Amino acid sequence: MEPEVQEEAREDHDDKQVVSEIMARCFIPTLVTSISWEAFHFVGHEIRITEAMDCYGAVVWPSALVLCYFLETNAKQYNMVDKNVIEIGAGTGLVSIVASLLGARVTATDLPELLGNLQYNISCNTKMKCKHLPQVKELSWGVALDRNFPRASNSFDYVLAADVVYAHPFLEDLLLTFDHLCKETTIVLWAMKFRLEKENKFVDRFKELFDLEEVSSFPSLNIKLYKAMKKNRRNA
Ligand SMILES: C[S@@+](CC[C@H](N)C(=O)[O-])C[C@H]1O[C@@H](n2cnc3c(N)ncnc32)[C@H](O)[C@@H]1O
Repeated sequence: MEPEVQEEAREDHDDKQVVSEIMARCFIPTLVTSISWEAFHFVGHEIRITEAMDCYGAVVWPSALVLCYFLETNAKQYNMVDKNVIEIGAGTGLVSIVASLLGARVTATDLPELLGNLQYNISCNTKMKCKHLPQVKELSWGVALDRNFPRASNSFDYVLAADVVYAHPFLEDLLLTFDHLCKETTIVLWAMKFRLEKENKFVDRFKELFDLEEVSSFPSLNIKLYKAMKKNRRNA
């Protein structure tokens, strides 16, 4: 077999193996109850997530699993203990819960209509289990950022984001939000699902402001995990 073909086969095998391990962290109960939930297994905890089916975003998306798995398996390199972490587009809150269980001081954010379900999941899964109780706060991309998250008092070590880029009309506001929340030392960990050409364009726009590194890739899910830091403006 040609070396390139061999390499491709190896990458395909690695991808399938890790993806099946990531997906095995999800458990869907067969018993039908009045409250529907799914269980996820990360950092030694069973995390029960209630999904609000009437609301886009209030289900757990595969990118969230990829990011949780990354946080768990790279906890030494990306140590969350006592770190200031903000998640944007947190949805059901799974990523924020995992970061909290890993010891971070987390602010989970989303649109106002998502906050009730988000707060519910976060409270159920972090009470008495975390060093710092996570906060839930509204953050609509690009809206009232200076008032609600003044740059001078933003001191986030990490900005987390899973599946926040798709065909919605707020892509420029999203970019503005990433930029607003980051200082020079902030690390963005971003799991990105590629669906349409729009996503590639967003990555190009993002690269104008941030140094972007692909940390891992899961071709069978069309998901890439990126690490990013603000470009040093003095050298830009
Ligand atoms: C595809 S879902 C991903 C949810 C979660 N991160 C996950 O991976 O399971 C996209 C999320 O972005 C949020 N979102 C969409 N537009 C937004 C906006 N303009 N401002 C803030 N959040 C927004 C949605 O409410 C939703 O929670």
